[in-house]
Amino acid sequence: MLLKQSVVDAINRQVIEEFTASLQYIAIALYFDSETLPELSKFFQAQAMEEHGHAMKLLHYINDAGGVAVVPATREVKNHFETAAEAVQLALDQELKVTEQINTLVDLAIKENDHLSRQFLQWFVAEQLEEVSSMTDLLNVVKRAGEANLLLVEDYLARNPRPDAEGEAAGA
Ligand SMILES: [Fe+2]
Ligand SMILES: [Fe+2]
Repeated sequence: MLLKQSVVDAINRQVIEEFTASLQYIAIALYFDSETLPELSKFFQAQAMEEHGHAMKLLHYINDAGGVAVVPATREVKNHFETAAEAVQLALDQELKVTEQINTLVDLAIKENDHLSRQFLQWFVAEQLEEVSSMTDLLNVVKRAGEANLLLVEDYLARNPRPDAEGEAAGA
């Protein structure tokens, strides 16, 4: 095997986070769907597909490198939200947490002199910049509009579709 077992174990643990994030985004998409906010719902459905793609990318990497990829059970998902801001704040907190986890994974790859994994994980490092940045933007827009004016957020999303959404969804 090309990888150390400690790195395989850590990547398998990250798969739990990515699948949980995917399901969490589906729950948020459903919440916005139930509030008749289709653009917000669409945004989080696309996010869910991206996270699914992240989990699959990690699993395929372990397989390719000769490790044992494990499809995990996910953690609990939050399904009830009082406000749009609460849901988007949860999404941002999740992205910040994943960013820390990816950094910790890279730290481990460096410590283990695993240059293959270090290089592979750089894609995730760059991806987290985009994820945190787009979620921060969305939270700002939601807060600025206020809960009574979420149609302004719908308008904003309709006019500013995520440039990567279609490509990444197709590849997920
Ligand atoms: Fe992710
Ligand atoms: Fe993400």
